[in-house]
Amino acid sequence: MPTVTKLSLSKDKINILLLEGVHDNAIDELARGGYASVERLPRALDEEELLERIGSVHILGIRSRTHLTARVLEAASKLMAVGCFCIGTNQVDLKAARRLGIPVFNAPYSNTRSVAELVIGEIIMLMRGIFEKSALVHGGGWMKSAKDSYEIRGKTLGIVGYGHIGTQVSILAEAMGMQVRYYDVVRKLALGNARPCETLEELLSVSDVVTLHVPDTPQTRNMIGAAELASMKPRSHLINAARGQVVDIPALAAAMESGHVLGAAIDVFPKEPGADNEVFESALRGIKTAILTPHIGGSTVEAQANIGTEVAQKLIEYSDNGSTVGAVNFPQVALPVQLGCTRFLHVHENRPGMLRKVNEVFSGRDLNIAAQFLQTDPELGYVVVDVDGEVDELEVTNDLRAIDGTLKARFLFPGKR
Ligand code: NAI
Repeated sequence: MPTVTKLSLSKDKINILLLEGVHDNAIDELARGGYASVERLPRALDEEELLERIGSVHILGIRSRTHLTARVLEAASKLMAVGCFCIGTNQVDLKAARRLGIPVFNAPYSNTRSVAELVIGEIIMLMRGIFEKSALVHGGGWMKSAKDSYEIRGKTLGIVGYGHIGTQVSILAEAMGMQVRYYDVVRKLALGNARPCETLEELLSVSDVVTLHVPDTPQTRNMIGAAELASMKPRSHLINAARGQVVDIPALAAAMESGHVLGAAIDVFPKEPGADNEVFESALRGIKTAILTPHIGGSTVEAQANIGTEVAQKLIEYSDNGSTVGAVNFPQVALPVQLGCTRFLHVHENRPGMLRKVNEVFSGRDLNIAAQFLQTDPELGYVVVDVDGEVDELEVTNDLRAIDGTLKARFLFPGKR
């Protein structure tokens, strides 16, 4: 059965519920976009509380502690979109949201700079042995020595994964006088004077510090194991602020205990405590030259602010315009501003003949289609139709809703030319 639909609403009737103390920037952005009916709660809601409230919500904003189950989503008869004001989206049943035609947005790159800055700081801390020395002084000791203490200027930084974070680290490291080498599975344009390596082994063998910025994929699991650690330069350093499964931690502990790897800064672990009061276990605990941090690479006030802006913008774009760029569970459609046309948005199961049936709704009325945008994936189709001239929006939308396999249909009033 096709569920639900939403016709066009004026913006002040679009109810937005933001949970878990989403940043003020989100409220400001929504207000600038003309959305006034926004309620913000400081905490997460549990399933029963969500079930009570979700029926009247058009847009829901959450962070990582609100679990959006299929049961909640199925009860969300008016829900148009979900914004995760964070990086991860596994707190949402994405498949159920998809099945119901609800796009889910997040902010995967808002904390890029925060991670890059931490990495630069750690390079210096590692190459000067600062944490070990600081712990000693805290304990009442004193060790005034230049042994194993180096400037970073002129040293080689090896970056594995030259994406959003890797490239930022590259720019900052060069500004500090480092030589940058990088390795990526995709051919990437070098920034500044950075130079690519053909293989991971080449990068490991030439770098004084290796920093990892790859995603968690089957190919990157344990990509730094005993063999890779052995091919690192003797007395070099390793930084991992990417994903916990990328480094074989017991192998790293062994390489550090043998002195082959001099220092490491690790922010992410294969097994991380689920709550602040849980005990953290790792073979790296107690190794004095290891800087261990609790997955805070991207946790800064600025990143939270950026996330507030970025996710709010994506929600506004979808609501105002129909664009799904940045949705994690939906076909991606980037739409131009709709000027002078009525825009119809139709989300459907990807079945043969669907587009023909959508088009018949318009051709049967002799309506002129000014533009049409379609994106599908194996299960879902999203078609956007801009229509010129006079049109009975409600009637057309109802006919679109009546097409078997429809998940959502709505329209947007014409924008001013
Ligand atoms: P991105 O997607 O922009 O870049 C990843 C790069 O890795 C891409 O260029 C990709 O081609 C490359 N890559 C993929 N597989 C590879 C392989 N097997 N070998 C070499 N290169 C490979 O990702 P972004 O935003 O730069 O993030 C990188 C990592 O940092 C991700 O794992 C992300 O989850 C993590 N992260 C950690 C944070 C923290 O708090 N510690 C905060 C933000 C991101």
